[in-house]
Amino acid sequence: MGKHEDKLFMKRFSLVIGILVAITVVIMILASTYQKEPDPSENPSKLALAADRVAPVGAVRTEMPAAEALVQAAAAPEQVASAPDGAATYASACQACHMVGAAGAPVPGSDAWAERVAKGADALYANAINGINAMPAKGGRMDLSDEAVRAAVDHMLAQ
Ligand code: HEC
Repeated sequence: MGKHEDKLFMKRFSLVIGILVAITVVIMILASTYQKEPDPSENPSKLALAADRVAPVGAVRTEMPAAEALVQAAAAPEQVASAPDGAATYASACQACHMVGAAGAPVPGSDAWAERVAKGADALYANAINGINAMPAKGGRMDLSDEAVRAAVDHMLAQ
């Protein structure tokens, strides 16, 4: 090969390289023009599925709604008893003694009870709440409110 041919080859070779570079640049510009960021509104389920796939399998529950519900359920009977429902309070806290006259407890409706009633309702309330002789204060149910005990006495008076 002569010197001239070398020069000619180099000229054409660099021309071809240059054209290829130019085409590459044009393709890059076109690509960046047409390329879009993925639009979440276009296919939200796709993103949700992707989030699902990378989500952890298990999770730790720090709040305890189930346990709270159990505690509340356990406390519920007492809430019923402390509500001013005289019949329910009497049934749960008083009738064990007062229905059968245990330890000399006056049975509502009996003569012994009539003697007690003669003292007046206020005296009966006070003795039921504070206790008298073998009668424990509030029938031993210190969780009962005074109001609940009065309601139970009212229930006894109605018998
Ligand atoms: C452990 C058994 C027992 C329980 C439980 C009990 N009582 Fe009595 N209660 C007695 C006895 C015994 C007497 C009689 C006391 C006395 O000698 O005056 C009595 C007396 C009473 C009297 C009459 C008080 C007076 O002034 O003469 C009332 C009212 C009364 N109880 C209400 C209640 C109520 C309301 C409850 C439930 C909240 C209750 N008792 C639960 C044993 C009980």
